[in-house]
Amino acid sequence: MIHAIEARGLVKIFDGFRAVDGIDLNIPEGSIFGILGPNGAGKTTMLRTLLGIIDPDEGTRSLLGSQKPISQSRNVGYLPEERGLYQSMRAVDTIAFMGALRGMPLKAARDKGRMMLDEAGLGYAADRQIKQLSKGMAQTVQLIGTIVHDPKLIVLDEPFSGLDALNQAKLERMIRAQAEKGVTVIFSTHVIAHAERLCERIAIIAKGKISFDGLVSTARDRLRPQVHLETESRDGPWRGALPDDCRVEGNWWHFTLPESGVEPLLTALVEGKAGVKSLSIERPGLHDAFVAIAGEAVAAEMDEEMAEALL
Ligand SMILES: Nc1ncnc2c1ncn2[C@@H]1O[C@H](COP(=O)(O)OP(=O)(O)OP(=O)(O)O)[C@@H](O)[C@H]1O
Ligand SMILES: [Mg+2]
Repeated sequence: MIHAIEARGLVKIFDGFRAVDGIDLNIPEGSIFGILGPNGAGKTTMLRTLLGIIDPDEGTRSLLGSQKPISQSRNVGYLPEERGLYQSMRAVDTIAFMGALRGMPLKAARDKGRMMLDEAGLGYAADRQIKQLSKGMAQTVQLIGTIVHDPKLIVLDEPFSGLDALNQAKLERMIRAQAEKGVTVIFSTHVIAHAERLCERIAIIAKGKISFDGLVSTARDRLRPQVHLETESRDGPWRGALPDDCRVEGNWWHFTLPESGVEPLLTALVEGKAGVKSLSIERPGLHDAFVAIAGEAVAAEMDEEMAEALL
């Protein structure tokens, strides 16, 4: 598999603080890759290091096959977390300017910018100054400026924040369309639903370390399904078949699906005449997996710190 990005043992230290703390990462070319993690986890620092905006203190990274990521800047579109545009520049000129910075002839970038604004439903605002646009509109202009030069790799830091539901859906469509062309798209987000809908693979970062890297389905499989059962009877020998973590609410029983699966339990319920009224098995979503994985990593680190303090 060809990788758009490869990182080995990446470390970035700010004033003794390890914001990125030994990251290994492979991002397959042509994939949509989500980077999830709580505030301060190191997502932005990692992206900036991968792109060559800042240099790592330790480790190596390669971007589109190059050890000098900045040399690939014409092939990369980067939407930084802090949005910033010249307030008195017109929308279409902003896009042309951003395209020119990445090697496009100004006129071609302006024509394409106008076309892309039209496609985004913002054609009417092409000649307005940035300060005359709403925040979400300005963000769309910046996003178009990020991809106007047809990059091979698009890196979006929190691209969904500040967009309304309609524009979020448009952005999702744009990301999918780019991936269909073979472009690699990497984005960071707090909104797990976007990653769940868009990505095949994700990395979860907590405290500068990768606590999970792999398929979304694998992240989900880390958590066992939840069973919700309603019975007519409230007591009987079948209760011995319910797992230890069972929570009772009236005639409802909630518990984690045991390793042995649902069948032995069903047999016990039927033989014990529990009177099954309803039974559902709920697969956990990525959100629950995220909380469990990021939480586990933070908890493990706290245990280490406490152990050190006790020594
Ligand atoms: N230029 C800097 N100087 C000093 N510390 C920094 C700098 N940039 C980031 N940090 C620190 O590094 C850590 C990681 O920050 P980073 O911005 O990478 O997190 P993040 O995962 O992107 O968070 P968020 O979800 O809030 O955007 C934080 O503790 C932050 O204070
Ligand atoms: Mg960030």
